[in-house]
Amino acid sequence: MPLVSTRQLLDEAAKGGYGVGAFNVNNMEQIQAIMEAAKETNSPVIIQASRGARAYAQDKYLYHLMLAAAELYPEIPLAMHLDHGNSYETCVSAIELGFTSVMMDGSLNADGKTPATFEENVAVTRKVVDYAHPRGIAVEGEIGVLGGVEDGHGAGGSGLEHLTDPDQAVEFAERTGVDSLAVAIGTSHGAYKFTKKPDGSVLKMELVVAIHKRLPKTHLVMHGSSSVPQDLQDIVNQYGGKLKQTWGVPVEEIQLGIRNGVRKVNVDTDSRLAITGAIRKVFVEQPEKFDPRDYLKPARAAMQKVVAQRMVQFGQAGHAGDYKAISIADMAKGYKDGTLSTKPEVAKK
Ligand code: G3H
Ligand code: 13P
Ligand code: ZN
Repeated sequence: MPLVSTRQLLDEAAKGGYGVGAFNVNNMEQIQAIMEAAKETNSPVIIQASRGARAYAQDKYLYHLMLAAAELYPEIPLAMHLDHGNSYETCVSAIELGFTSVMMDGSLNADGKTPATFEENVAVTRKVVDYAHPRGIAVEGEIGVLGGVEDGHGAGGSGLEHLTDPDQAVEFAERTGVDSLAVAIGTSHGAYKFTKKPDGSVLKMELVVAIHKRLPKTHLVMHGSSSVPQDLQDIVNQYGGKLKQTWGVPVEEIQLGIRNGVRKVNVDTDSRLAITGAIRKVFVEQPEKFDPRDYLKPARAAMQKVVAQRMVQFGQAGHAGDYKAISIADMAKGYKDGTLSTKPEVAKK
């Protein structure tokens, strides 16, 4: 299948009542791990690259690896998404390269650190939508600010400082025409999300419920959704790592979100932990090894395992064959003739 739009994947997920994992990548092994997991579980999938990933791998390498994935797995609906675009220019460059959807994270200023005003966020997101839709490219916006810092990106903090206000979410969706909306509900990026198993006081799932009630047809996105499983922490530490005890987002909470309009679930940290644990194990148990394939193969297999688990847990497993690809040119026509809605349905309070 050619690379398809995230919008198509999320529209189908809404019909089927499931979520789609969006997994971050920086290199070939991570793309291979995700595609093998998608094949194993028969899942549609979103692969996403951050600005940091684009700088690390170089755009052209990433793009051609993604084309290779689409060619090698014709049965898998696959979208290539820009994660946390920090400016209009970043989004345009991703679209020019061939990404099939972009996130304009206007919740922060272009420095990727300081929270932007609501009006600034609306203006830059609307500008990206106006550029993207005529080209058939879907746009994710963010309202509210997540916690944590990844690779220099993020406002820091616990994730509770700038939670999404449901009224603002409605206004934002109406004024920007985004295809999907990332919400801040107390999650943060990275491994150190919670210092104990999160309960209702830290993870505001009731906000997802409230936003979904007001915007019943809008695809919601949960960032910072790694579960940071204990066994992956333990493997890293057993083989010389020094992770402090931490808790991620319980899978049951994500599943509750999925029952309430969450269609895209962002996961990066769990893959990073799986890879690091597997590599450390080889280094400690077989210190004589020096062929990178000796540790990259188990690393890739470990990532495949956790990604496949998430695909089953999010409900996307089994849905790869449900639909045919809509070309990006036809997506552009759909936005133009209105068959692809950009006006959210808003329910009264
Ligand atoms: O949202 C953050 C993702 O985990 C990507 O992280 O910016 O370090 O590539 P990164
Ligand atoms: P995690 O750090 O929880 O994996 O979140 C990833 C993410 O939200 C990427 O945008
Ligand atoms: Zn994120």
